[in-house]
Amino acid sequence: MTLTERLDYYRKLTEQALEQALTSKNEAYYPSVFKAVRYSALSGGKRLRPALTMEFCRVCGGTPEQALPFAAALEMIHTYSLIHDDLPCMDDDDLRRGRPTNHKVFGEATAVLAGDALLNRAFETVLSPQNTRGLSAETVLRAASCLARASGMDGMIGGQILDMESEGRQISQETLMLLQRHKTGCLMQAAATMGCILAGRGDAATLEAAECYADNLGLAFQIEDDLLDIEGDITKFGKPIGSDAEKGKATFPVLLGIARCRELVRELTDKAVAAAAAFPDHAFLEELAVYLVSRDY
Ligand code: IPE
Ligand code: IPE
Ligand code: MG
Ligand code: MG
Ligand code: MG
Repeated sequence: MTLTERLDYYRKLTEQALEQALTSKNEAYYPSVFKAVRYSALSGGKRLRPALTMEFCRVCGGTPEQALPFAAALEMIHTYSLIHDDLPCMDDDDLRRGRPTNHKVFGEATAVLAGDALLNRAFETVLSPQNTRGLSAETVLRAASCLARASGMDGMIGGQILDMESEGRQISQETLMLLQRHKTGCLMQAAATMGCILAGRGDAATLEAAECYADNLGLAFQIEDDLLDIEGDITKFGKPIGSDAEKGKATFPVLLGIARCRELVRELTDKAVAAAAAFPDHAFLEELAVYLVSRDY
């Protein structure tokens, strides 16, 4: 399978799982929240994090399908983080994945609840005995715990708070690294390590290699996102251009300049590619790291 074929395959699996998870037999009693959740969760997106979970499971000797509930759950948490990130009290953005943001369509209160609902549904999904048949209780617990930690205060939320508090301020490169590693890197790391754990390869050396890959990939990915926020094309990027500058966000392009950012992205990508070599059949992981930093969306 080529990179694109495999990404498409993982995208289809993810979207089927999301379709299935984001419905309820009681939906008719409170349809608005389902409408709002599905609007954001089934509106495109690169589906990168679920692809990482399924691919790490595959290269560790499992099947992509056995990681699917966890992959879909991670995408739900990512989508919730985007809905909240776009709110007027946070980045105040009007466009996401080429469409009006959730709160623009459904209102702020529903958008807050839609985000909360996705976070909960993620854990409903991975903790459902029906979805985790064939996995040991210990494996499910380890993977779910990894997901919970990466999404919380010591993970993505920690990064989001640092991002907000750094607006309009000059921060050190060290603090900026910490910020980006948390707001973006932690979910990427969870994507990778959950895949290993679900394949039964939760040993320290394997997790360390997966974390190293995802950490470097995540940082490079976020710097590329910050560059696209400056010089991207709105019709491809699907998000407003210039949003970071408007809010005085602390980003690598602000701190280091565009040319140094391009070098840094290359260095980080090389490190991710080197870390991928620890896994058998790692061509997809290598190609993905390179592809993600040459994207225009
Ligand atoms: C957006 O993530 C938020 C960042 C961490 C830069 P993605 O660029 O993966 O967003 P989608 O899911 O493809 O829309
Ligand atoms: C947000 O980073 C990452 C999240 C945890 C949601 P950004 O604020 O840069 O993401 P975009 O550019 O709005 O997608
Ligand atoms: Mg933000
Ligand atoms: Mg934002
Ligand atoms: Mg951004």
